[in-house]
Amino acid sequence: MSRILQSASERRAETHPLTWRLHDDQSPVLYDEYRKTEGYESVVKALSNYTPESLTDEVKEANLRGRGGAGFSAGFKWSLTMKGEGVPRGYVVCNADEMEPGTFKDRLLMEQQPHLLIEGMILSGFANRAKQGYIFLRGEYHLAAESIRRALADARANGWLGASVNGSGWDFDIALHTGAGRYICGEETALINSLEGKRANPRAKPPFPGQSGAWGLPTVVNNVETLCSVPGIINHGVAWFQNFSGGASADGGSKIFGVSGKVKNPGLWELPMGTTGREILERAGGMRDGLSLKSWLPGGGSTGFLLPEHLDLGIDFDTIGKAGSRMGTGLLTVVADNQSMVSLARNLEEFFARESCGWCTPCRDGLPWSVKILRALEAGEGEPGDIELLEQMTLDLGPGRTFCAHAPGAAMPLASAIHHFRDEFERGITRPKGEAHADPIPVGSV
Ligand SMILES: Cc1cc2nc3c(=O)[nH]c(=O)nc-3n(C[C@H](O)[C@H](O)[C@H](O)COP(=O)(O)O)c2cc1C
Ligand code: SF4
Repeated sequence: MSRILQSASERRAETHPLTWRLHDDQSPVLYDEYRKTEGYESVVKALSNYTPESLTDEVKEANLRGRGGAGFSAGFKWSLTMKGEGVPRGYVVCNADEMEPGTFKDRLLMEQQPHLLIEGMILSGFANRAKQGYIFLRGEYHLAAESIRRALADARANGWLGASVNGSGWDFDIALHTGAGRYICGEETALINSLEGKRANPRAKPPFPGQSGAWGLPTVVNNVETLCSVPGIINHGVAWFQNFSGGASADGGSKIFGVSGKVKNPGLWELPMGTTGREILERAGGMRDGLSLKSWLPGGGSTGFLLPEHLDLGIDFDTIGKAGSRMGTGLLTVVADNQSMVSLARNLEEFFARESCGWCTPCRDGLPWSVKILRALEAGEGEPGDIELLEQMTLDLGPGRTFCAHAPGAAMPLASAIHHFRDEFERGITRPKGEAHADPIPVGSV
């Protein structure tokens, strides 16, 4: 399913900067072809025309917002990194943990076009005066690992990594680090702990990684798609990136959107930020025959459920935030009319409970408790007061109550499912014991 569904003839460098080189047969774009198609040109330009500060300013001005889920400005993050004279050189880290339920975009980029990620990391390494880059890759992504290893070797052999990058006198290299497949490793400070060989618990902030990250040195963590977006800014300019959506969104650039769930044609499309949910759903061929759309998640399991009436909203960070959800990763999960919201919520909370690192009480104890209640509602064995208890839990798991954003992320789909579909939860208390409910999802099926 991790495939781009726009054909090669439809994709152009100016309109599809992330995917224009991809092959229809999904084979990786190897070094020679990459180099012949403008590959590494942004590095040549950056090393001769920019300073770390001017490169950072350019990315900031372009308004590239982080594609890992939180939408923080990449350039602004880079501007906060300690990197002046006399500051020890630190690290840039690519967050390639991609375990958000329903999300499979970084995988496409890494499997099929690893050189674009390396090019973006070189730019980030230069802008942040880093001495070393790391790609923290989800352990199960074997094909991506193979593709990246080969690309790193080819980039090194051709002078883009190692001592004096492209003859510039600036040394920088990148190492691949494969994780063990834990969702919490995607949280940037837990990722840093894991990279250091420690248990993957999030760290207390401050200090922020930009001041003291991996091994106590300044460290910048960015998502795969964020980093892959940087070469386009340098090649085509800030104005091109800022105006990419033609006014549909205040955010700059393109985005790899996708759809999974009961649609005719699940997959990925590179489109401007601010593309509507309706257009994305139409590209997926609409719902499967006989089904209609009941609800959708705009960007992974840790975002809030929206309704069909939200389909005409442009998908970007602020618009979806105002609608009460989060854009997250921008990969839609659709829910059909015959699917149970109680089952879906239980399925997601099972995942979040399993992936909690156990550091804070509301997350460690609250999430398994919510699963227990949801299982009872699913079986029609709920008790009066269960829904109110679940609602209270979503508040106790909310922002500011725990060390990291895992718990608020887990609370969002549950709170929104109850908000929009309370009657389904109520039927878990009132329907006769033993009566089946619509299309249940098996336990442990995430
Ligand atoms: C529980 C949890 C899991 C996360 N998983 C990922 C992930 O797999 N990939 C990712 O890029 N960001 C993930 N994030 C967000 C990162 O902490 C961080 O914000 C992101 O890597 C920053 O990159 P960006 O600014 O380029 O988006 C996760 C956050 C949390 C709280
Ligand atoms: S919110 Fe959950 S995952 Fe995050 S630190 Fe606390 S226990 Fe760990």
